[in-house]
Amino acid sequence: MNAAHQTGKNRKVLVTSALLYSNGRLHVGHMAGAYIPADIYVRYLRLAGADVRFVSGSDDYGVAIMMTAEKEGKTPAEVASHYRSTHIEDFKGMGIGFDLYSGTSVNPYHAKMSQDFFKAIHDRGFFEKRTARQFYDEGRGVFLPDRYVKGTCGYCDTKDQNGDQCENCGKVLDVDHLKDARSTVSGDAAVVRDTVHWFLDLARFEKEVTTWLETAELREGTKAYVRGLLGTGLVKRAMTRDISWGIPVPLDDPDAKNKVLYVWFDAPIGYISNTIELAAQRGESLESGEAIWRTDDTEIVHFIGEDNTIFHCVIWIAMLSAEGKMKLPKGVCVNNFLNIQFPGKDVEKISKSRGSAVWIGDYLAEGGNPDALRYYLTAIAPEKARTVYNPDDLYQRFNTDLADTVGNLVNRITSFTIKHSGPAVPSFKKEVVVPADEKLIAALAETHEHVTKCLEERSFKGALEGVIEFARHCNRYVDEKAPWTTRKTDMDTTIATLVYALRAIHGLGVMLLPFIPTAAGKILSAFGRSVEDVRWNDAVNFSLEGISLQQPPILFQKADRKESADA
Ligand code: 2FM
Ligand code: ZN
Repeated sequence: MNAAHQTGKNRKVLVTSALLYSNGRLHVGHMAGAYIPADIYVRYLRLAGADVRFVSGSDDYGVAIMMTAEKEGKTPAEVASHYRSTHIEDFKGMGIGFDLYSGTSVNPYHAKMSQDFFKAIHDRGFFEKRTARQFYDEGRGVFLPDRYVKGTCGYCDTKDQNGDQCENCGKVLDVDHLKDARSTVSGDAAVVRDTVHWFLDLARFEKEVTTWLETAELREGTKAYVRGLLGTGLVKRAMTRDISWGIPVPLDDPDAKNKVLYVWFDAPIGYISNTIELAAQRGESLESGEAIWRTDDTEIVHFIGEDNTIFHCVIWIAMLSAEGKMKLPKGVCVNNFLNIQFPGKDVEKISKSRGSAVWIGDYLAEGGNPDALRYYLTAIAPEKARTVYNPDDLYQRFNTDLADTVGNLVNRITSFTIKHSGPAVPSFKKEVVVPADEKLIAALAETHEHVTKCLEERSFKGALEGVIEFARHCNRYVDEKAPWTTRKTDMDTTIATLVYALRAIHGLGVMLLPFIPTAAGKILSAFGRSVEDVRWNDAVNFSLEGISLQQPPILFQKADRKESADA
């Protein structure tokens, strides 16, 4: 483990999850991208003793929310408020433990923070005010920024792309790189017109982005992608928009009238506003909240989906560098998209319009087990490439890995011990210990070390695989040592087997806490332990002597395929 990663009381970490647009429901792709991995990381860091703040919230401004409002016949604020509430409920149901879930239109510090940030960049001379060409709907008399216009990507020729970014190649698009553009408001062909905007010349920050990239904690694929973006050259990006739903451009300039900040300008600043709101909620000063971004003592780590890479790893780094007083994030953990495969169908992209999605609200409302979904989405985590969510696969993995491998093990060992030599964890005679016993405990220590390393590196899939592999080892161990058979002839050996198995199960409970907190909490309840008192190193350093065992509740309720298809 890297020395810088030694965790202890003095380690301070700010973890952020992408600010989700508040115009649609949460689906499994969102959860796998920016929320479950962040929650696992936070839970692990806290167990390891770090002082962690975990913030997120909704991204309320911009064209996406306006378009939904038009479609639903509501105001943008109503749309944002409605979806924000559903997100909060879904996150809660999935056990995502934010310290704060705010929203860019409701956070009381956000508008000023964004405007001050804009002014700071302006005062430092990094904005270029200029007349730009932009798509325009002549019939409706409105400019068509971002998603108000659709066309063919000028880089990769993919059809039906939004005016701001190509879903296929990830490139940021503009009037020169979107062909056959049509207004999504009227369906008419879009024309190009002049309008004044404030541009940030990203090329001026190429050095800062390049330097940051050298030491930033990013996955290899992300690094390569960002290097590629730098290789093709950075451009000037307008940081203002001609729309009504947003934060007003804070300049005393007639050209700034009726213009708002680009949503991708104010959204990442939301991470700062949310940090400040959390400080206020905790009764700390606003300055101390902001200081988290201005001083070196807190590591900042963002969790995002692949489509947000350019905004976090190039534009946000340029914005922070231009503002000049904020620290750059230590890491950006990027996950790829999740595709989906329903029974008897081909693999497809998750799509709201085609209805090819598994919605978190539906999953939970149908009685889906949050731990099962957390487990599955981590087991198939799209950390290096897109992966496929398959409801049958979820069902299989739930039954095999969780119910059989973990649940049965815990249940049979605890009940057997309580019945035949409990409830106190018994003492065993050293002379009956055999190599298999010692190997089990050595494997626990190795697993703990490996899992710690994986979690520090944010390889959540690898970490979980390590834990489940250890659970399989435990099963092989108890099958081989067969305490139910030895009990009839050799109680001393039986007791040693049970104690070693219990140590392993306790270790499993600790190591599973970040991934499946509810079930892991039940495992630890067998040892009378309350989750708040558990520390990460307890997995290997905790004496069970004298503990009174309790039969834990059923960890995973197996159900037949129909009921549990999505559970
Ligand atoms: O893709 C999205 O849902 C964006 N709203 C993410 C914004 S992340 C951050 F910058 F706020
Ligand atoms: Zn493209």
